Amino acid sequence: MTPSNKTVLITGGGSGIGLALAQAFLQHNNTVIITGRNLSKLEKAKAENPGLNFIQNDVTDSAQIKALVEKTQQEFGGIDVLVNNAGVLHTFDIADESFPFDKQLQEIDIDFTGPIRMVHHFLPMLKQRPEAAIVNVSSGLAFVPLTMAPVYSATKAGVHAWTQSIRLQLANTSIKVIELMPPVVDTDMVSEFEDFPKISPQKLASDFWKGYVNNKAEITPGQSSQLKLMRRLAPGFIFGQINKQPVPA
Ligand SMILES: NC(=O)c1ccc[n+]([C@@H]2O[C@H](COP(=O)([O-])OP(=O)(O)OC[C@H]3O[C@@H](n4cnc5c(N)ncnc54)[C@H](OP(=O)(O)O)[C@@H]3O)[C@@H](O)[C@H]2O)c1
Repeated sequence: MTPSNKTVLITGGGSGIGLALAQAFLQHNNTVIITGRNLSKLEKAKAENPGLNFIQNDVTDSAQIKALVEKTQQEFGGIDVLVNNAGVLHTFDIADESFPFDKQLQEIDIDFTGPIRMVHHFLPMLKQRPEAAIVNVSSGLAFVPLTMAPVYSATKAGVHAWTQSIRLQLANTSIKVIELMPPVVDTDMVSEFEDFPKISPQKLASDFWKGYVNNKAEITPGQSSQLKLMRRLAPGFIFGQINKQPVPA
């Protein structure tokens, strides 16, 4: 995959990891489009990074995604790289029935069904490109669940399994399928995780870029590679280690 001179769409690119990835793609001479629900977040990202393009879009809304496919075709001549980065994380204790069931369903709709929906609608366009890529942002928690975020952990394990499957199915096409599995990264999403060591979004993006230019299919920066190894060597031990506190404080 040539890492420059491509048109790249990043869902949830207005903040955190998505924005850092957008900056990395931008620095390497790509046309970058970021999406998200919150217009002011996208406008702020654009003001701070004038080279960015943005389109307001919700990954849970098929009609909006169809319109996004058309808009990217009309305004940018299509995209070559789709980065499925948008996500939310809810911590809750399942024994506490006050946590809304709807929020759990919405978490699945954004984190798991969202990437599947995006790929479904963008695949015909990606198949036409001489070189294309799908980058799915899952998590180190795809290897070992964090019990205080039960639905989130399950969605990321699901994204991992789905990514492995579509990578093999698309092996004989022009589309590369890449999975980025971040460790804990210092973004709004994990502001409540004070006791976990965090890397910066910029460090994550730089690790991603090294893997991306070297055609790595699975990119596991920092502690994610340790989780991957420990899940094989000592699954019970690592599960206990990261879940010393099984429910939110
Ligand atoms: N931070 C970590 O430690 C960590 C670790 C492993 C994996 N990850 C993954 O990395 C990705 C980015 O997370 P982050 O840490 O950068 O968190 P973040 O700063 O909260 O960013 C998440 C982004 O997703 C967007 N988003 C949420 N729901 C959306 C929807 N329905 N449609 C479109 N966009 C939506 C948000 O924008 P709007 O609210 O404006 O829509 C926001 O810009 C997520 O997939 C997350 O699971 C994060």
